[in-house]
Amino acid sequence: MKSVQSMLGIKDNIDQILYSKEEIAQAVKRVGEEITRDYAETVTSTGRKPLMIGILKGSFMFMADLVREIDLACKVEFMAAKSYGQGTVSSGFVQIVKDVETMIEGRDVIVVEDILDTGNTLNELCALLRARRPNSLKVCVFLDKRGTRKIPFEADYVCFEIENEFVVGYGLDYAERYRNLPDLRILKQ
Ligand code: XMP
Ligand code: MG
Repeated sequence: MKSVQSMLGIKDNIDQILYSKEEIAQAVKRVGEEITRDYAETVTSTGRKPLMIGILKGSFMFMADLVREIDLACKVEFMAAKSYGQGTVSSGFVQIVKDVETMIEGRDVIVVEDILDTGNTLNELCALLRARRPNSLKVCVFLDKRGTRKIPFEADYVCFEIENEFVVGYGLDYAERYRNLPDLRILKQ
């Protein structure tokens, strides 16, 4: 049987594995357990279940694995946002192009994103979501590039902190490619 790389014809463009699928599974399990522990009380005392909002497209694989590691009733939604250069659009830096179907007001929201880099996208998105008056709003990211932040932004849950390298796989793409790689790899410059 052909390997994943040869099927995709991508051997020349990607470099070493940064995190294997086994390492990813372990980190996602840890974060799922943290969320379960933190929200267990919320669920029992108020009857609310966390509303998980995945940011498309990059978070789809992470979300699928993460919710299977959360031992609580939770609701899954997805949003898609488009980023613009700052100041070019009067409605704001980030525009929602696909919205959630659930009312956010009063809910315990967890935003699930693939990667936190400069902080611009999540900062803007969280501001938009906060305006809808959730009971609480937390952020869970698969990857955190801490060294590249342009504005201060802290995620509540992080699977891996990484250096400033462009990574692909496990949902993350370069020009829409490589999302289906089961592990995380560094893209060759
Ligand atoms: P900001 O800078 O707004 O960026 O925090 C978050 C978005 O930037 C993209 N991004 C990446 N995508 N590999 C990717 O596939 C990377 O290494 C990478 N770094 C940033 C991503 O779309 C993310 O949502
Ligand atoms: Mg993305």
